[in-house]
Amino acid sequence: MSPDADPTAELEPREVFDRVGGLPAFERLVAAFYDRVERDEVLRPMYPEDLEPGKQHLALFLAQYWGGGDVYDRLRGHPRLRRRHAPFPITPEAAGRWARHMAAAVREQGFDPAAEALVLAYVERATPTLVNQRPDQAQVLPPGLAVLPQQPPGHGSGSSA
Ligand code: HEM
Repeated sequence: MSPDADPTAELEPREVFDRVGGLPAFERLVAAFYDRVERDEVLRPMYPEDLEPGKQHLALFLAQYWGGGDVYDRLRGHPRLRRRHAPFPITPEAAGRWARHMAAAVREQGFDPAAEALVLAYVERATPTLVNQRPDQAQVLPPGLAVLPQQPPGHGSGSSA
């Protein structure tokens, strides 16, 4: 594949925030994602009864990650996502559900293609790092988790070993 064929090549990660429409766009994404979490019998029990604070935190985190300032850090401190997720039993199956719900919510948003591709790649890359029930496999995508087409060998995103 030539570098020109990469849909993300034209966009810096920090530009995603403006490209998708700022914080309201991340709030809509998170609302669509939580609609799915609410109906998921594996994920819903991990979340507290009141979903609203978590929605706000996730939207602010994503906004910050994609270039929208540091409101999350100021409100919540350094993300330390693995530590924050330690209380939840994140099996490969749970992570796969999370990733698929988030990928579906992203695809619903009508983001421009470069921004969508970056966000989907992030979901695919970051979700397995939060698996904490099978530490030996924390960096390995379980079968069926993949939300993107396979990368060609040597693309640099982890090993298959
Ligand atoms: C790319 C992957 C993920 C990202 C970026 C992410 C991000 C976040 C953030 C930013 C928060 C809020 C932290 C805070 O309170 O400040 C959070 C909370 C949470 N996450 Fe994740 N997460 C990811 C994957 C997962 C997975 C795989 C699960 C479970 C299968 C999960 C379950 C939860 C739960 C239960 C909460 C607590 C929500 C609440 O207190 O209302 N997350 N996550």
